Amino acid sequence: MRAHGNTVSVEELIVRQKPGFTLEQPFYRDAGIFRRDMAKIVSRLWLYVAHVSEIPERGDFLLYRIGEESIVVVRGRDGEIRAFFNVCRHRGSRICLEEKGNVRTLTCPYHAWVYDLEGRLIGARGMPDDFDGSEYPLHACRARVAHGLVFVCLARPDDPDVADFAGIAADLDAFAGRHRLAETRIAHREVYPTHANWKLVVDNFLECYHCAPAHPEYTMVNAFVKAQDRGLDGYDEATGAWEEKARALGHPVGTDYGEDPDSPQPHGYWRQPIRDGFVTLSQDGRPVAPLLGDLEHWDGGETGFTFGPLSYAYLCSDHLCTFRFTPVTPEFSEVVLTWHVRADAEEGGGYDLDRLKWMWDVTTVEDTRIIIDNQKGVNSARYAPGPYAPLEGSSAAFARWYLGRLAA
Ligand code: FES
Ligand SMILES: [Fe+2]
Repeated sequence: MRAHGNTVSVEELIVRQKPGFTLEQPFYRDAGIFRRDMAKIVSRLWLYVAHVSEIPERGDFLLYRIGEESIVVVRGRDGEIRAFFNVCRHRGSRICLEEKGNVRTLTCPYHAWVYDLEGRLIGARGMPDDFDGSEYPLHACRARVAHGLVFVCLARPDDPDVADFAGIAADLDAFAGRHRLAETRIAHREVYPTHANWKLVVDNFLECYHCAPAHPEYTMVNAFVKAQDRGLDGYDEATGAWEEKARALGHPVGTDYGEDPDSPQPHGYWRQPIRDGFVTLSQDGRPVAPLLGDLEHWDGGETGFTFGPLSYAYLCSDHLCTFRFTPVTPEFSEVVLTWHVRADAEEGGGYDLDRLKWMWDVTTVEDTRIIIDNQKGVNSARYAPGPYAPLEGSSAAFARWYLGRLAA
């Protein structure tokens, strides 16, 4: 591949990468590096794909598209959620073509081989008598559910280089228990097509150095942004006082990134106060929906979850917003947000959709533009890696982690 006029290998690019700097151009657009990203990194991540309420009935399925792959996520006759590669074991055709639906079996449209919802081949027309269908089940994809959030991992079954899902589920256990996330429903889902490499999407999400200049709304709502810009002066005391109030309500507080930074999937969570007088992430600080689950009080805090570089969630007392970042091609990523409210909350009476989605929608529209412009600049012949600022420590850590995983 070519980097600044010279042909160099990925290994060389990795070795010569300056610590604390953004990556060289090929990492953001080269097709070979993108394939390596997918094989060595993305396919080994637990990826948030959907909420259980999107496939509530037996036989309900949805498709998740990532890179060259299409994954069928289906609820079986036994009520369990499973995932399969959408690849027929006969000649490889896609099997499910609809985005969503309800089926009794998975039947390939090409020659009509039939699979049951556990992935077993149960019908193969006209094959010889000695054909053993049990040798041709669908390729299973790992799937797990925690608090109603469905995750998949595309790694091969014998690949040991995958994080233990229990650690990710434990983050939710620690902070989301009383919100009953499995019992929420999706009030809104928005897709933000983003013409940029997935690492630019991640880089943007991990740092708030850009928040003050690029997100006036987010900065208005989240007190930490201005505090961070002035060196967190007085912020720890304010956070401490808020934590005491939250604790008095019996709500958990704290932050935990207690992961080995070189693990296959660093993850963690944090809680912080929103802003004085604000009980949720809304334009006026007032509630946007009824309290979730068993909560009895708005404590004025927000909880962020990093499930890994491509999956995040922000939880308030009255709603959850999930973030799903999906690499599709070297220069295209799909960003999907879903807003969840209590299952019995009615639009109009219980919540107003515009108020509910305002914060993250306006912020993500801004981010999409920033990220696309970032890719355009990176594609210039004059682009060269630039230094991350101290406020971009998480992005710098991601770049370090990424290069380590890519080299491994
Ligand atoms: S490719 Fe699926 S039945 Fe032939
Ligand atoms: Fe942003």
